[in-house]
Amino acid sequence: MGEYYLARVYIHPDYQNKGIAREAILLCEKEFADAKFYYVDFPEVMEKNRKCYQNAGYCDTGERITMEGAPALAMFKKTVSETFDPAGVSLPMIYEAEQNELQECLDVIRQSFRTVADQFGLTKENCPKHTSFIPLSFLETQKNWGWKMYALYAGKKIIGYMSLSKESDDAFELHNLAVLPEYRHNGFGKFLLDHAKETVKSLGGNTIKIGIIEESTVLKNWYISNGFVHTGTKKFDHLPFTSGYLEWKGE
Ligand SMILES: CC(C)(COP(=O)(O)OP(=O)(O)OC[C@H]1O[C@@H](n2cnc3c(N)ncnc32)[C@H](O)[C@@H]1OP(=O)(O)O)[C@@H](O)C(=O)NCCC(=O)NCCS
Repeated sequence: MGEYYLARVYIHPDYQNKGIAREAILLCEKEFADAKFYYVDFPEVMEKNRKCYQNAGYCDTGERITMEGAPALAMFKKTVSETFDPAGVSLPMIYEAEQNELQECLDVIRQSFRTVADQFGLTKENCPKHTSFIPLSFLETQKNWGWKMYALYAGKKIIGYMSLSKESDDAFELHNLAVLPEYRHNGFGKFLLDHAKETVKSLGGNTIKIGIIEESTVLKNWYISNGFVHTGTKKFDHLPFTSGYLEWKGE
């Protein structure tokens, strides 16, 4: 039970070496919620296949399948954990969030932004629109608007989130970037940010805009160290903090 064999993945030569096979493998796996193990085999001599499966979390079992007149097949295996020790998460994956995953994404957003609300003393009374209080209908509406929504998975558990909205031909806005508190400081925020940059480039854009709490100096410096430039601030009467704006420009 819970064991699956991953059949051959084929990528057109024009599209090879772009990480598409890895994405395809992960998308296939996502279909099997009960999976505990995946097996795959491929000709032992094919170094590119080895790298690709390793990048998708497969490990060499050491087993070889040999048949006369055919190259030996290497047997690789991937183990899917149900529970994750935050420090032990080595291969998180980003998938586009689907409608039926929005509630879990919302839980991640609300839990993640609670630390911000606590840090700045934001409550439903003084800041009802803060991200830590948003309802599910916000995410549903954003999905209907065509926002690109991404969940960061550790196995089957969503541990991070972000979304992108198209603001003009070349500019996108990044929203609700979040990593659950217990999973922070492992590079997952940067992983999501890098994915946002790649996504924007692949959609023909070259700019990411973001709004933050200006007083979050650590966060602001983190964005700056990730290639963002501070572009300004604004004070709104209905918000008990200053809004700060940053922008990233791709090459
Ligand atoms: C911002 C956030 C996504 C970063 O996630 P992460 O997985 O810890 O990110 P990384 O591991 O790639 O980077 C960690 C760095 O983030 C920076 N950082 C950003 N916000 C921080 C905060 N509130 N507290 C501490 N460090 C923070 C620090 O520089 C940290 O460096 P360190 O690990 O050396 O201490 C996460 O802190 C979060 O969800 N915060 C709450 C929601 C939020 O503020 N989102 C941004 C909205 S604009």
